[in-house]
Amino acid sequence: MDKADFPKEFYWGASTASYQVEGGAHNQWTVWELAHAAEFAKTAEKRLGWLPNWEHIKKRAEDPNNYVSGKGVDHFNRYDEDFGIAKSLNLNAFRFGIEWSRLEPEEGQWNQEAIEHYRRYIKAMKKRGLEPFLNIWHWTVPTWFDAKGGFKKHQNIKYFTRLVGKIAEEYVDDLTYVITLNEPNVFTSFGYVTGEWPPQEHSYWSLIRVYINLVSAHRQAYKILKATKPSLQIGVAAQLANIQAKRPHDVLDELSTKVMRYLWNWWFLRRIRKQQDFVGFNYYFTDYYKTFKRENPHVPLSDLGWYMEPEGLYPLLLRVWARYKKPIFITENGVADEQDQYRQWWLQESIIALQRAMSEGVDVRGYFHWSLLDNFEWAYGWWPKFGLVEVDRAHGMKRTVRPSGKWFADYIKKHS
Ligand code: BGC
Repeated sequence: MDKADFPKEFYWGASTASYQVEGGAHNQWTVWELAHAAEFAKTAEKRLGWLPNWEHIKKRAEDPNNYVSGKGVDHFNRYDEDFGIAKSLNLNAFRFGIEWSRLEPEEGQWNQEAIEHYRRYIKAMKKRGLEPFLNIWHWTVPTWFDAKGGFKKHQNIKYFTRLVGKIAEEYVDDLTYVITLNEPNVFTSFGYVTGEWPPQEHSYWSLIRVYINLVSAHRQAYKILKATKPSLQIGVAAQLANIQAKRPHDVLDELSTKVMRYLWNWWFLRRIRKQQDFVGFNYYFTDYYKTFKRENPHVPLSDLGWYMEPEGLYPLLLRVWARYKKPIFITENGVADEQDQYRQWWLQESIIALQRAMSEGVDVRGYFHWSLLDNFEWAYGWWPKFGLVEVDRAHGMKRTVRPSGKWFADYIKKHS
């Protein structure tokens, strides 16, 4: 991996989501987490006791405060310091979210202060030499939108497109890249089928409705954004898995692989293929299917118990390229690893996967690590650590670059 260099214009970035780092938000998710924190703490052992490092996380996982996003990592106030850290890691791009509930806390009423905040935020990022990749929706919505039924109702899409119009009107001059939606498949599965996330439904019918509405939301957003600035490059951040047959050549395993790839990876992207200038995807998982059931190897596992196969990025890149023939951005990729024992290996394998794919002509334009900072990991709360940079919330939110972060910075410097 030390032999090949990356093109000068390759984007090395880190990815974040407003709700997971900013702090002080008020949206459907903050309301939900407060209502469930005590219950999550109580049921922690039952849910997480099987994790390899359960003893190590037990105290935190059984504390209700773990499940409250609260002050976040105060990125809302410390963004310029964070951009400085990103720059010191030799990054040249940054994926971030705009928190809808800040911009439009009440239906139809724009908060001018919040609008100005994000204007300063984007300008500060650019001043540090970081190319902004603005992400419009990363699962959180204002409480008033949620009360109307959120994305389950087709007639609610107009509120989202109004937000898109506002973002276009306010920020478009400073932008080249916009991501409309983050991982529609994950959001709909966890929120509407498994019931682990708000609104905690168990209904395939709801999943289908939300999924279809998100397709429309993206298509309309694409049109609005393009009309405002035709040169904008627009896409989504899809969650794609490297899905493989557990027993190669077994008819049922191969069939389940085909079905799962289609449903999980391609269904959404196929529907928006004409409304995307690039394919953006998040890669975390290689999943093996045995007769329609996921059955992964038992090692190595991340802190979240996720099976780790970072090199699975390579076959996935080939497949995405073969299907869409459009520039590709890895919009998220990373690992929950508090001890920082796997992250450098993960980065190395991911970089090799990028190099292999690019050497075969796959047009990869950028890689965004998840994440710059330790952050609030949705229903798991604070204990999983995804940051290139550690954040000590108990001691003034102190930021410390992890050894893997230093390794990454050094690699970028030598090879870009
Ligand atoms: C999401 C992030 C999340 C990460 C790690 C992705 O699916 O977009 O918000 O923190 O995975 O779980």
